[in-house]
Amino acid sequence: MDALRLLFILSIIISSSSSISSSSSSSSSPKVSFEIYYETLCPYCSNLIVNYLPKLFESDLILITDLKLIPYGNAKIRSPNSTITCQHGPWECLLNTVEACAIDAWPDVKDYFPFVYCVESLVYKKNYTYWETCFDKLGLDASPVTDCYNSERGKELELKYAAVTNALQPPHTYVPWVVVDGQPLYDDYRDFASYICKAYKGTDIPSACTESSVGSIRKVKTNLIHSLYGEEASKSVLVQMGTSIFSWLQRKNIVASS
Ligand SMILES: *[C@@H]1O[C@H](CO)[C@@H](O)[C@H](O)[C@H]1NC(C)=O
Ligand SMILES: *[C@@H]1O[C@H](CO)[C@@H](O)[C@H](O)[C@H]1NC(C)=O
Repeated sequence: MDALRLLFILSIIISSSSSISSSSSSSSSPKVSFEIYYETLCPYCSNLIVNYLPKLFESDLILITDLKLIPYGNAKIRSPNSTITCQHGPWECLLNTVEACAIDAWPDVKDYFPFVYCVESLVYKKNYTYWETCFDKLGLDASPVTDCYNSERGKELELKYAAVTNALQPPHTYVPWVVVDGQPLYDDYRDFASYICKAYKGTDIPSACTESSVGSIRKVKTNLIHSLYGEEASKSVLVQMGTSIFSWLQRKNIVASS
């Protein structure tokens, strides 16, 4: 046996044993792609992000999911100098760019999602002009995002998302347009979890994909809606959200570092 072959076999043994040691890791099977084409001020979009997407972080569904948020939606590019106009006006263009910048600045879902969630929960409460309070609420440095949307980078990102959105096959006909494993879910998009579970080919089935957890996820969602409508409860929802992502992250780190 030549040295290269031996090296190859060794590398397989090493990689498979490392995936065994991180028992709940699903690195051996591909994650299910989950794309959300949306615009920041559309009510159905903020509803999806605030009341439904958090279930990704329960029962480790996120571990088998490759989430991509594409904040562009029904915006249009106008010639001559590629000016972007948005369905809900300039505020939407600003917040689309802000969220695109956040995703660019903090590409890991555990980093950008709490911020997007925070901004969209303000949209949901029709209080989005206070979007900058999200930096403080989450203890984030504002400069990567503000530098980005005040520079050409923000526009560049939006043009990139425009290209991705306009290349959709079949084309999107409304927002939010949710695509799981290459297939649009049309009006069934709130039920994304079951589509992700069905598309997953791996063996590390998250508990979110087992029958019994469906009811409990519904309950969590209802609680979130109730807390959001409650006045002083809304802040604690955000804290709760941050805590659930944080504990997910901790679990993930513990798995990765052992
Ligand atoms: C490009 O757009 C800006 C407004 O954003 C406008 O002031 C300017 O005249 C435009 N330039 C050209 C070449 O059309
Ligand atoms: C909007 O947010 C600001 C800042 O957090 C807060 O002071 C204000 O009460 C909020 N308004 C509503 C209607 O929620």
